[in-house]
Amino acid sequence: VVDVLADELGVTAPSLRVDRGNNGKPYVARPVTTLRFSVSHAADATFVALAYGVHVGVDVEPTTRDVTEWALWRHVLSFDELEWAHRSRTGLNDALLRLWVAKEAILKAAGVGLEVDPRGLELEAGARIVALPTALGDPEDWSLAWFRPTGVVAAVACRHRPAPIEACD
Ligand SMILES: CC(C)(COP(=O)(O)OP(=O)(O)OC[C@H]1O[C@@H](n2cnc3c(N)ncnc32)[C@H](O)[C@@H]1OP(=O)(O)O)[C@@H](O)C(=O)NCCC(=O)NCCS
Repeated sequence: VVDVLADELGVTAPSLRVDRGNNGKPYVARPVTTLRFSVSHAADATFVALAYGVHVGVDVEPTTRDVTEWALWRHVLSFDELEWAHRSRTGLNDALLRLWVAKEAILKAAGVGLEVDPRGLELEAGARIVALPTALGDPEDWSLAWFRPTGVVAAVACRHRPAPIEACD
């Protein structure tokens, strides 16, 4: 991660300092920069999302992970989201993972964890943000995109709209 950040900022890795906020969210403390980033580890790889001047979050899950039997979904998904997941053409597991990574990406961008009830953050048809907890602002302020590198599903959220979100290796 440090190498990616140093390369992006055109500085050497040892001169870069990454600190963590009280909530655990990492940020670049040195050099002074508007670059923000988010990290997710999955399938033996590390995924990094970068954005200048806006909050960004990434979350990744392996598509091989079976989450259909997970007992806590009703604490994470709204009634409508659960219903959509069960009807989804791509299958229940894929739909649940898609909702999961999107919610995590938004929560990671906002730098909040379990203090926010994830059911207050609602996605319509697994795609469009229709409701957010007050602390996260207005749904219109957010951009969200999914990526599917081999074997994983990833979501990137940006507290900015419109934000062109692109994937690179
Ligand atoms: C802490 C949390 C962000 C970690 O996520 P995870 O899926 O277990 O693991 P990931 O690999 O995707 O992410 C880990 C990275 O998140 C980052 N992170 C940790 N706390 C963070 C926070 N408060 N905000 C943003 N990013 C955070 C770190 O960079 C960490 O990697 P690092 O320790 O190597 O630097 C997550 O468990 C969490 O609290 N999520 C929100 C809780 C929730 O309600 N989830 C259900 C909704 S779907």
